[in-house]
Amino acid sequence: MIVERPAASPTTPVEKEKPAKFKVQVSVTVTRKKKQSMKEKVETQLDAFADRFGSNIALQLLGTEIDPSTKRAKTSKEAVLKDWFNKKDVKGEKVVYKAEFTVDTSFGEPGAITILNRHQKEIFLESIVVEGFACGPVHFTCHSWVHSFKDKPNKRIFFSNKPYLPSETPPGLREPRESELKEMRGDGKGERKIHDRVYDYATYNDLGNPDKGFAFVRPIMGGEEKPYPRRCRTGRPQSNTDPEMESRVEYPEPSYVPRDEAFEETKMEMLKEGAVRALLHNLMPLIVASLSPESRDLKGFPDFDNLFKKSVESKLLGKVPLLNKRTNSHGFEMTSSLGKHSPESTPVNIERLQEFPPVSKLDPEEYGPPESAIRGAPHRRSARGHECPKGNQENKLFVLDYHDAYIPFLDRINAQDGRKSYATRTIFFLTQMGTLKPIAIELSLPERTPRGKRVLTPPSDASGNWLWQLAKAHVSANDVGVHQLVNHWLRTHACIEPFILAAHRQMSAMHPIFKLLKPHMRYNMEINAIARQFLVNAGGVIESSFAPGPVSMEISSAYYAHHWRFDQEGLPADLIRRGVAVEDPSEPHGLRMLIPDYPYADDGLLLWSTLQSFVAEYVSVYYTSPAAVQSDAELQSWYAETIASGHADHRHAPWWPPLVTPADLSHILTTVIWLASAQHAALNFGQYPIGAYIPCRPPMLRRLLPAEGDPDYEFFRANPQQYYLSAMPELTRATTFMTVIDTLSTHSADEEYLGERREGWTGDGRAVDLFRGFAAEVRKVEKEIEKRNKDPARRNRCGAGVLPYELMAPSSPPGITCRGVPNSCSI
Ligand SMILES: [Fe+2]
Repeated sequence: MIVERPAASPTTPVEKEKPAKFKVQVSVTVTRKKKQSMKEKVETQLDAFADRFGSNIALQLLGTEIDPSTKRAKTSKEAVLKDWFNKKDVKGEKVVYKAEFTVDTSFGEPGAITILNRHQKEIFLESIVVEGFACGPVHFTCHSWVHSFKDKPNKRIFFSNKPYLPSETPPGLREPRESELKEMRGDGKGERKIHDRVYDYATYNDLGNPDKGFAFVRPIMGGEEKPYPRRCRTGRPQSNTDPEMESRVEYPEPSYVPRDEAFEETKMEMLKEGAVRALLHNLMPLIVASLSPESRDLKGFPDFDNLFKKSVESKLLGKVPLLNKRTNSHGFEMTSSLGKHSPESTPVNIERLQEFPPVSKLDPEEYGPPESAIRGAPHRRSARGHECPKGNQENKLFVLDYHDAYIPFLDRINAQDGRKSYATRTIFFLTQMGTLKPIAIELSLPERTPRGKRVLTPPSDASGNWLWQLAKAHVSANDVGVHQLVNHWLRTHACIEPFILAAHRQMSAMHPIFKLLKPHMRYNMEINAIARQFLVNAGGVIESSFAPGPVSMEISSAYYAHHWRFDQEGLPADLIRRGVAVEDPSEPHGLRMLIPDYPYADDGLLLWSTLQSFVAEYVSVYYTSPAAVQSDAELQSWYAETIASGHADHRHAPWWPPLVTPADLSHILTTVIWLASAQHAALNFGQYPIGAYIPCRPPMLRRLLPAEGDPDYEFFRANPQQYYLSAMPELTRATTFMTVIDTLSTHSADEEYLGERREGWTGDGRAVDLFRGFAAEVRKVEKEIEKRNKDPARRNRCGAGVLPYELMAPSSPPGITCRGVPNSCSI
């Protein structure tokens, strides 16, 4: 600390001595871009020259105490960043700039710092450290864009990394805490600019593009008719033809997200690389398809293998463990892999068969009799060699039931050119080896359709075998659709976004719960905005690759309306709901699994428990009583607004868990973090390794099963393999699908995994210690998963040609690895 004491003066009475002045040093770390466009380079140079003549970056300290004369926080004089000009040519690095304040001893502790950026360009501020105060160094963890004053004249404020509950906010920081939140909430008006930091809600009214014509008209998702979570409001103008719909901005033009939610440079590079790979990946089949009209169909299974082998990035195949192991065998063998069905491919839909025969819950007036056509004992006869119980008293029968998800939409799905779907139900028998064997598949069409229901059992002749393969392919198409539209997109990406919006609007960056949640919100809003641009929009990848086409998002909305319940989204509650586990206090995690070797659930429970313990301990640091939870206005507003505005279509639902006690808070937070991290990872990063080989898991089919008397039955009898291949998606459609799930399954180099956080995320040593313990527990989970994957008794994850289950293994290098649990829905 440098102290400058005023020289003693004979005219200054000693008892009225002025406060001493002293100097404090500030280190400001700014991250510079690695690659700049020509325009950016010019702007950088102009800013550097202008900086020398007063267009600089100015800082001001705010104290934690109130200045009695202004009734506001004590403030220092302005200080400017030095050396900007001298360091103007540094690229792709963290650059530390210095500044110096002179303050007096009555200033107290600094609690915040403001920045006015008089440059033409925004800057990315990493962190600030202020040294020289008696309290020791004060850290400000920023990791944030600071706008140029030409875009907005106001200053940015950053609070020190010391957490404060609202009631404990130092007097000097109370007003800045309020006004910062007010700014983040915005006024709900006008179009958002790219540099804005406003978090607000809107319905999904930008998926369609009525200005492009009737084929691109889509209903609004969100509201009484099509319930849906809310997304971030952009305030774009309405479309020309429908005032209810927002106009679109097409990729790669950016769609608004608050500035700090946007992808950082490393992540952008990964996406661009993915786009290039997608382009090249598609090139070969597009050329082939353009040469011959017949080539839109596949001639043989090797055509699919070639999609990998001829891809420009030949390493791709090697990066995918499942394909690496299995493409050595003939492709067709892969199509029968559902015969050795394991719960991983549909980890969150498999249910214990709780009622036999299965019954539809749809309105019988509209959709016909609810009973399944699987009657009598076909499931027992077909279990061949296995002792199959009557009914399901021994919990040996499980079901994948997509009947109700698809039946209401089948007429519209099958009216599309070249798409044919059933609503499927598949019954599985749990073998003594712990694997699930399909023993009956029911294929349903709308009630009035001839041959509306068809039941197949494992084949005993050649024709039966081909029909069985086709039936399994239809199950797969149903499964892939629900996986993407419901389990992955809706239940993680879309349902988390309202929690993120409300967190930024209602909880200060100083709030300890905001600090806990911050890494679990990273990139979610940006990837959701990109998804609205080219994945879930009218004519987007989902519609073009998946069987439901234009009704895709309506299927997603129907699930949200009738099935989604936040209180059942945590892992234990979900397992109990599906009947695959029962409560048993004597078992680890308090659950007895009815599928003894269920990798998703087994590993997931390890992570869930680890997370739950950490969150509970963290919460207990800040909340020691229910009164503390109930009186925290920011926390209560966060949760209340998430429900009332973010999940507005369920705002009156009785199932929202209360937020009254510290235990309630822990449970809500554990569920949110679980969905954003482990649940998303389990559903996202296996998409390419498990789903890219189209004959194994087609996302759509072009033909129904043939039946005697049908015009194409003779074609099927004469050449069943070609019939099968002609039912698969066309070459170009298949490769579009492959390339997108390739990118979605890729970890970028800047990924942050469970058990990792940025340095300085909190200034509270108790929280830092707890997190260190959590990280150690996460590493133990990883070791246990490694051990499990080598255990030959676990046949669903260990064995000849069996893919080890690593989707819940927390760490991963960059790339497609089929493992790694990022903190957030980052892709
Ligand atoms: Fe994802």
